Formats: sequence, structure tokens, C-alpha cells
Amino acid sequence: MQQRHFRTKDIYPEPVQIESLSHDGRGVTHIDGKTVFVEGGLPGERVKISAIKQSRQYDDAIVDEILEASAERVTPKCAAFGICGGCSLQHLNHDMQIRYKQQSLLDNFSKMGNLQPEEILEPLQAVEWGYRYKARLGVKFVKAKKRVYIGFREKHSRYLANMDQCEVLDPRIGKNLDVIAEAVGKLSCYNKIAQIEVAFSETGCALVFRNLVELTTEDKDILIQLGKDKDYHIYLQPKGPKTVTLIYPDKSELSYSLPEYNVKLVHLATDFTQVNPYINPLMIKQALALLEPDETDDVLELYSGIGNFTLPIARNVNSVVAVEGEKMLVDRANENAERNNITNVEYHVANLMEDTQGLPWLRGKQYNKVLLDPPRSGAKEMIDTIAQLKPQRIVYVSCNPATLARDADSLVNTHGYNIVKAGVIDMFPHTAHVESIALFVRE
Ligand SMILES: C[S@@+](CC[C@H](N)C(=O)[O-])C[C@H]1O[C@@H](n2cnc3c(N)ncnc32)[C@H](O)[C@@H]1O
Repeated sequence: MQQRHFRTKDIYPEPVQIESLSHDGRGVTHIDGKTVFVEGGLPGERVKISAIKQSRQYDDAIVDEILEASAERVTPKCAAFGICGGCSLQHLNHDMQIRYKQQSLLDNFSKMGNLQPEEILEPLQAVEWGYRYKARLGVKFVKAKKRVYIGFREKHSRYLANMDQCEVLDPRIGKNLDVIAEAVGKLSCYNKIAQIEVAFSETGCALVFRNLVELTTEDKDILIQLGKDKDYHIYLQPKGPKTVTLIYPDKSELSYSLPEYNVKLVHLATDFTQVNPYINPLMIKQALALLEPDETDDVLELYSGIGNFTLPIARNVNSVVAVEGEKMLVDRANENAERNNITNVEYHVANLMEDTQGLPWLRGKQYNKVLLDPPRSGAKEMIDTIAQLKPQRIVYVSCNPATLARDADSLVNTHGYNIVKAGVIDMFPHTAHVESIALFVRE
């Protein structure tokens, strides 16, 4: 067991029974009417716990001893589980994780607006381990150990979890954390690398080292050797995203293909791309099945990134207008449309959290279908605008069931849409993150 970098208080003399799981994967119990969130506890279990933090409304606690284990409990694969802040559900069997996420989605719908999808979609599933293609890894030189660590932060501290392997990262990185840490440890500026951004694609694995000082020629040689040994593309980033510079190999073009739509998308290591390349094509397929694209359709897509949904949709409809907040992503999206000879797409840059009335992609325009894939904060500011367009179908892809349910409440209870189908997508196995999709149809 790794050392914990936080103190606990032994204030609960009696064992407790875990009643349910919270939205972030902790067990929930009540002691004298007060809610206690218990890290490491699963529903049905009897456990001894101690407190991490207390407040008037609730306590945070951690399991010290399991007296009666749940039948759904499994042995976590990762040695850092329980300490590392990356995963919180490795102790629950994978099928139950998905059932728990589906229940969390449905609970959010029912709590928020008394909503119930007419049909619950079969959960979309792909691989369970080694799925993660994107990550931001912390880097820390630990004086006492005289070595560099890389990885994710611990749950309750500013420290990095002590991990030489990560089971959810693609193994080309996940099994080489120690090798990368060793290379950083050899740099003259071993304590001036703030983080490493990891981005895989079909054409290579990019590591972007956020260097706070300039690297010497010898330092660069060390990282180049790492690139050669492990087949990584090595980038440095001395300042903002525009300063990202390739140092190995001479050329690097990251891209992924969606063969079903005859589409290939190029991207930079620092661009937003979906973290799980195994589930992404299944998610796109499901989104299109729900959208029911037709050659007469004019589709509005919001939060469109580099064109992950846009180009597959465009292959099947009359036109797509796609809107995204990051100019750099829109530049890439335009390049992607051009490279794929797709001409029925129009991209716009806009901040969709601000007033969009009167913007050219809305003024006098008509769209009969809308697809949106907003960030965690959801699309509150856009819901009235979308409803005013009166699309027949709205497909909403979400990474946060709470904001999806809030926006669904508005679409259904204010704007008269029906929530026809909804389901979860297993984008982030072993973490508490819930990806989901919902179809809204106008009555
Ligand atoms: C979950 S990602 C989806 C991207 C794309 N649909 C995909 O599948 O790759 C959310 C997108 O919303 C964009 N975004 C975040 N905040 C925004 C805002 N205020 N206005 C417009 N776009 C925003 C992000 O840049 C990101 O590309």
C-alpha cells in the first residue's frame, strides 16, 4: 500500500453500511442523518471508515477495513488505485460500472425535470483497459527520492501519485512512465518540466514537454533518444499553445481515420480530440443513427472541434454549418474538410456562452436538425436559440449528465421536445466520468 499524503480522523466508532454510489464513484452512507461520502466503499458493503474532511452538511471519509464485501467488488488492476486521482471505479466490476453510469444518467433526468427517456439505448462499449489516447501528465522531482515522477495527481493532495505504470493509458505510454521519468531525470532542467501532454493518433504518439526554461543541446539529445527508442514524436512547448515545436522526428502529422465515412482527420497534439479512439467511431455511428441524416437535411452542429462529427454528417446531408469557440480548431476543421474534398460544410468561430443573436450562421438561417457536443458546463446559453430554430431532431452528446439533464429539462419542459432515446457511452472505463447521448424530437 502506498503512503497517503493526507491525515484521517478516527471519529466513527461503529462500522457503517454503504447505501449507494455518488456521482463521483464514492460510497454514500448516513450517520445520525448526516451524509458521509466514503471513498472505496461499494453499495451493500459493511465497512469501518475514518474521516478525511468534515463540514456542517456532509463528511468525506475513507474505508479503513471492509467487513462485508460486495459481490461486485473486484481487485483493482493498478497498484496506485485509491491514491491516484485518475480512476475511481477500478474496484467495481466493469459491467456494474456501466450500469451505475446508466443509473446516474437516469437519476439526473428524473431529478432535474421529472424526465424519462422513452427508450434507453444499449450502452456503447469497446475496450476496457489501455484505451486512453490523450492525457496531461504531471512531472515532479522528489528531492527525498532523488528522482523524477510522472503521472496523475493524488486524490487529496498536490503530490503526484507514485506510479510507474498506468493501466488506462495506451500501453505505449502507460507501460513506459518510468522510462519517460528517467529521461526527464537526466535533463539539466529536470525540475523545470511542468507537464507532459500525451496525444496518440494512428500515425504516431506525441509527447509535448512543457519546458519552463530553454533546453540545452544535450537535453534535446536525451529527449530525441527517448523518441527514437520508443517511437515517440517529441515536442517542446516553452510558452502558450502556439509555441509548440517538433524536435523529433523531422516531420510529424497526427491523424485518425473514420473509414465508414471515408474521412481522415489531421490534428495537432494539443488539439481537442476524443480520448478513446475505440469508442469514438461507435459514438459517431450512434449519433448519426439518431440524427437520421438525409440528403435534404440542413444541419447545425455546435461545439464542433476539428470536425469529428461534422465530416461524417456532411457525407450524408445537404449542408452542415458547424460552430466552435477555438479559432485554432476551426482552422484545422477547415483543413480537414478541404483534405477530404467535402464542400457542403461551413465553419464559424463563436463563443457559444455569449449572446449569439444576429451572428451570420443564425441570421435568417433554417436548420431541420441539430447536433451538439458541449464541454462539461453544457449548453445552457444555447438551448433557447436552438429551440427557436425549431429543428425536428436534436442529438445531444454529453460528458456531464448533470448539465445534460438541466438542458434536457429546458428542451422538454419549456420548449415542448420529447426525450425519445438516451444512453451511456463507455468512453472512460474505470473513472467516474459519464459520457452519454440523447435524442430530442419535436412533438
Ligand atoms: C467535448 S468537445 C467536442 C469536440 C468535437 N465535437 C469532437 O467530437 O471532437 C467540446 C468542444 O467545445 C468547444 N468549446 C468549449 N467552450 C466553448 C464555447 N464557450 N464556445 C464554443 N465552443 C466551445 C471546445 O473547444 C471543444 O472543441
